[in-house]
Amino acid sequence: MNIGVAACPHGEAHNSVRLVLAVGLALACVSSLVAAKVGIEALIESRQASMKQMATAAKTLAGIFNGQVPYNAATFRDAAETLRDRTGSLLGEFPSGSLGPLSGAKPEIDQDRRSFEALAHHIATLATALAKEAANAPPQINAEMRMGPGTMMDGGSLLGKRTNAAEPEPATLPAEHLVHMILQDCTSCHSRFRQKIR
Ligand code: HEC
Repeated sequence: MNIGVAACPHGEAHNSVRLVLAVGLALACVSSLVAAKVGIEALIESRQASMKQMATAAKTLAGIFNGQVPYNAATFRDAAETLRDRTGSLLGEFPSGSLGPLSGAKPEIDQDRRSFEALAHHIATLATALAKEAANAPPQINAEMRMGPGTMMDGGSLLGKRTNAAEPEPATLPAEHLVHMILQDCTSCHSRFRQKIR
């Protein structure tokens, strides 16, 4: 009886400590997995929302130059700033664990980080130049903002065929030309690194 009383609770205490530890560890594991998953889902949602904002801004800018959106210096500036800010944060929004079937981001981003980052950097540089020009936007759209009749859009495509062509200095390009080059970057990146979801 003595043995029973002395040994049993002792053993139970050990066991329950172990059990508590095991359950605790398991919970800690599960909850950190859940936290990681929630974190990734939130990241994906926020980058998708960011892309949608870019799309709205890009549509406004394209519309301004093709006459479908009435020009107004503030509208122009706001859209250019949205593009600058959104493209500027693109780089950090695609970590390895967030690619593949979970979203529209292809796993190829991980296999070709250099191209992905080059595209992100390129579009951000163009959008920064555009926002700078837009900061001094005139009250009326003017000829300086327009692409001249001789301007071709092929100077700006990072992944285009004319790889030897020198990239024109973005700050020297008319706003309309920058907008076209920005739209080309959207398309280049999507055709390589974006997939259909579901
Ligand atoms: C460097 C690569 C890259 C560039 C540049 C880029 N995108 Fe994307 N875009 C992606 C990827 C990858 C996805 C898929 C993201 C996801 O589902 O998580 C995406 C998704 C989108 C979506 C869908 C968002 C949703 O709700 O699922 C829109 C709209 C979009 N992009 C618009 C644009 C526009 C407009 C531009 C140019 C101004 C642009 N993107 C530039 C890579 C890029």
